[in-house]
Amino acid sequence: MKILIINGPNINMLGIREPGIYGKTDYKALCTMIKEHGEKLGAETECFQSNHEGDIVDKIQEAFGKVDGIVINPAAYTHTSVAILDALKAVSIPAVEVHISKVDEREDFRQISYVRLACDTVITGHGADGYLEAMDYLVKKYGDKK
Ligand code: DQA
Repeated sequence: MKILIINGPNINMLGIREPGIYGKTDYKALCTMIKEHGEKLGAETECFQSNHEGDIVDKIQEAFGKVDGIVINPAAYTHTSVAILDALKAVSIPAVEVHISKVDEREDFRQISYVRLACDTVITGHGADGYLEAMDYLVKKYGDKK
C-alpha cells in the first residue's frame, strides 16, 4: 500500500512554531517517524508539505491511480479550502484528516473543516502520533485490497 502524507502551511515550522500548541517535534523528525512507521506496517510512504494551496491540489491530482491512501493535515486551509476538498473528491482516494492540536477546543474559525467532507475519519489533538494512527487506520481498512 502506498500512503501519501500531505501537510499544509506552516507545518514546516513545527518545533519552532507555538510549541505549547504544536509540540517540540520538528517537521524532519515527523517525516522520519512516518517513514519508520510505514516500514513497520509494510507501507510505502511519501511526505509532502507546501505553503501553497494550488501545490496541494496539484499533488492530490497527481496521486490519482498511484496512491492508495492519503493522510492530510491541511493546516489553515482546513478552514477555508473548497479547492482541496474538491481535489480529494475528484481522486476518490481514501483519506484521513489529521490535526496536531485539539482544534475542537480552539477558536470558532477552526471549527469549520471543508476537507472533512471528503475524509473517512478525523484525528485531532494526538500530536505527531496522530499521523501514525491515521496510517494504522488506512492500512487496517484498505491495506489488503492491494
Ligand atoms: C492545525 C490546526 C489548524 O487550525 C492550524 O491552522 C494549523 C495546524 C493542527 O495541526 O492542529 O496550522 O491543522
